Amino acid sequence: MSKLKVMTVFGTRPEGIKMAPIIKVMEKTCEIENIICITAQHREMLDQVLNLFEIQPHYDLNIFKPGQSLTEITVRALEGLERVIEKEKPHVLLVQGDTSTVFAGALAAFYQKVKIGHVEAGLRSGNLYSPYPEEANRKLTGILTDFHFAPTKTNRDNLLKEGYPEEKIFITGNTVIDALQYAVREDYTFDLQLLNDIDYQNKKVILLTSHRRENIGKPMENIFKAVNEIALKNEDVEVVFPIHLNPKVREIANKVFHGNSRVHLIEPLDYEPFTNLMAKSYLVVTDSGGLQEEAPSLGKPVLVVRRETERPEGIEAGTAKLVGTDYENIYREIDILIKDEGEYKMMANAVNPYGDGKASERIVDILLKHGMDQLEG
Ligand code: UD1
Ligand code: UDP
Repeated sequence: MSKLKVMTVFGTRPEGIKMAPIIKVMEKTCEIENIICITAQHREMLDQVLNLFEIQPHYDLNIFKPGQSLTEITVRALEGLERVIEKEKPHVLLVQGDTSTVFAGALAAFYQKVKIGHVEAGLRSGNLYSPYPEEANRKLTGILTDFHFAPTKTNRDNLLKEGYPEEKIFITGNTVIDALQYAVREDYTFDLQLLNDIDYQNKKVILLTSHRRENIGKPMENIFKAVNEIALKNEDVEVVFPIHLNPKVREIANKVFHGNSRVHLIEPLDYEPFTNLMAKSYLVVTDSGGLQEEAPSLGKPVLVVRRETERPEGIEAGTAKLVGTDYENIYREIDILIKDEGEYKMMANAVNPYGDGKASERIVDILLKHGMDQLEG
């Protein structure tokens, strides 16, 4: 029996988390041979995901360099991928999301006329510079894609509006929900004692993350200053901030939060403790893409500290609010949620606009059906 040869390419923490459930389903599918190639655009932050999901890549391009520029990431990934694709000659190459690895992966496949599947296709903010460079990466990848795996109907409609043919677009849900169901448990205890010591019943724990390139500088300073002031003024608030390894983010965080004992600055958490911490938290404040999808599913209100979002579904469902990056607005919105029980309850609803935990199975089924047709045709 001829097998469908799929090459999965990913490089950063969120890509790894969202690609892992698809890899797990492919491992159980005997009609598919899956070749895993990581660019390792992220190193430590990706390795923790590989460990958790027990994924052993066939190829590790190891392109990571501290302080890497967008050009460096793209060029190094493109060069490495050319050799791997030439050698393996996959029928389909799968990429996930909007990072520079995704764009380089799609371009490298296109250069060798390999079919491309884009997981998490069709997200659009409408502003090419926000998120930067992710909005552009998504659009550039879309042009080269043969199978658009759109998480939601909104994502599908975005692609239709751009003229992509209906038969190439598949609504699948987002695989992040599949991963989340794998990781979150009621009785979870943390390796980091600090996180076990927090009184989640009587304190309002704010989980903070921020790393977006377009926020680095003044916007990020505003975000951190607002959260810092909230923690200073409210004895019942504690903040946990697992800081992204980007030194530019660390510098701002260390400066603004210095000396505030109600703010815990910690290293990035592995996916399992991180999602379990989210499940125990009161409120999420973030500019992350993935957290906007996870928080609604866990019934946690999320304040999105960005000007635009390509994920409007959480906002429409009422669990997320886009609050921008101005100090006053962020302060006010957090203040409302820690003081106004009614407002909090209105947002703290578990809804799942992003999927039902079966996105990976759908993606693999579609690949099998359409990929095999092409093999046989
Ligand atoms: C990248 C993606 C972004 C995604 C984010 C997820 C691009 C252009 N950006 O942004 O879309 O939302 O990952 O986190 O593709 N670093 C380490 N070790 C690591 C990872 C990062 O030290 O394991 C530090 C390095 O100093 C590195 C910096 O973080 O230079 C930034 O990493 P990079 O991959 O360039 O961009 P991110 O901001 O992480
Ligand atoms: N995450 C994690 N540890 C952390 C912070 C985040 O495992 O300390 C997970 C989070 O659950 C989500 C993903 O990483 O699934 C989001 O990654 P990030 O915010 O870096 O990227 P984005 O989603 O913005 O592209």
